[in-house]
Amino acid sequence: MPERRERGLNIRKLADFCSKTGIAFPTAEEYGGLSGFYDWGPRGSQLKKGVKDVWWSYFVERKEFVVGLDGSIVTHPRVWEASGHVDEFHDPVTRCSSCGRVYRADHLVEEVLGKNVEGIELEELNRVLRDVRCPACGGELEEASYFNLMFETEVGPYGGVKSYLRPETAQLIFVDFPRLYIANRKRMPFGVAQIGKAFRNEISPRNFLFRLREFEQMEIEFFFDPEDDSCPYYHEVADYEVLTLTVEDQEKGREGEVRKVSEVVADYPGREWMVYWIVESLRFFELVGVDMERIRIRQQLPEERAHYSADTWDVEFRFDDLGWKEIEGIAHRTDYDLKRHREFSGSEKYAVKREDGTPFIPWVIEPSWGVERTVLTILYSSYREDEKRTYLALKPWVAPVQVAVLPLVAKDGLPEKAREVAEVLRKHFRVEYDEKGSVGRRYRRQDEIGTPYAVTVDYQTLEDATVTVRERDTMEQVRVEIGELVSYLRERVTW
Ligand code: GLY
Repeated sequence: MPERRERGLNIRKLADFCSKTGIAFPTAEEYGGLSGFYDWGPRGSQLKKGVKDVWWSYFVERKEFVVGLDGSIVTHPRVWEASGHVDEFHDPVTRCSSCGRVYRADHLVEEVLGKNVEGIELEELNRVLRDVRCPACGGELEEASYFNLMFETEVGPYGGVKSYLRPETAQLIFVDFPRLYIANRKRMPFGVAQIGKAFRNEISPRNFLFRLREFEQMEIEFFFDPEDDSCPYYHEVADYEVLTLTVEDQEKGREGEVRKVSEVVADYPGREWMVYWIVESLRFFELVGVDMERIRIRQQLPEERAHYSADTWDVEFRFDDLGWKEIEGIAHRTDYDLKRHREFSGSEKYAVKREDGTPFIPWVIEPSWGVERTVLTILYSSYREDEKRTYLALKPWVAPVQVAVLPLVAKDGLPEKAREVAEVLRKHFRVEYDEKGSVGRRYRRQDEIGTPYAVTVDYQTLEDATVTVRERDTMEQVRVEIGELVSYLRERVTW
């Protein structure tokens, strides 16, 4: 199999490839676009849906103890006070006093001085910032201040009620906990999963799909009793190994090591579940085609952690040009959120009762993925180039088109037969029919969008009701009877 091009692939190139193939492109390009907003084209919207569908199936449909929610994007504004987002969900911003350019201050320090200062106090950051000038014009930078990342909106006319576009899907799960608990017949532990849009008014969106202002999340809030926290599936995950980077590794300047996840997660209530969710997350990434050679888990430094988190492990992916980047966070949120909603709403329903009648507030572990980051990582992992072609080695279950149906030539009754075959296959798979251009060109077009199988109807088909099936990565072809085609393909496109 051809090597993935280590040397050539960077985010810019991938962005150009995605625009060209109609996967994803800047919104409203004819108006100059809008920073941090992208649109997903025919291939991309299907690819994204494919990834979300696998996620939903893996984490909700196939887990007895996880249920779903589809919460609203705009909710009661007090929710965001209780969650801490009104007071705490901010990034430091600075501006050049000469040219007026605006920067996210901690990222600028990292870029210019190579120092990770994410999460440090503003005063300290301003001290460091004195050694930094505007990279564009050399001008002096203003003192950094905090900028809240929530988009505000008004509900109703005449200056109605101020609210926010949700900055995370998670909070809907927390605020709805009383109903969800009852709907789940008061079983504990249990998880609630949600896929949906979230919005963050990022100071400097960048790196194509990596830092967006409008994006989608796939999140699970897993509720458990801190006094009854053993995980019945622990034996399935306890030996899983991956490259790990602990806080201690980072403090000592070490690169990290391959270790069992179960060896590095701290001993707190919910430890076994934390290991479980980290390992399941890694298995999911592998399933959808992320290059696991480029994966590590990194424990966030205390100053990096979000205001609600007692411990967070990031799953990170190594891009050749960007370095290690977070593609998922698994946060231990303790009882922070439910306690806050109890306090702010005055409702006692955020506490539940054990069998012996003692009340408690459930604790929470939260695996949280960005959909776009996941798709970007899959694209990066699957991009291949060789002398003859560019192709995406996508897993068949996420590929936008799973089966291409091609008549060898567009005459002599082959298109009619091929359309017939396509109609049968369409009931089972994502199918594209294509008769335009030489068959070689059509194979290349399908390779480029990652179609794993191409079914070609040729003259022999008319005689013996067989077709060729070409596999994308090896380009090998086999003859298959039309009557066997559905089961042949189903075996290969199902995970
Ligand atoms: N719910 C966690 C996050 O949005 O990062």
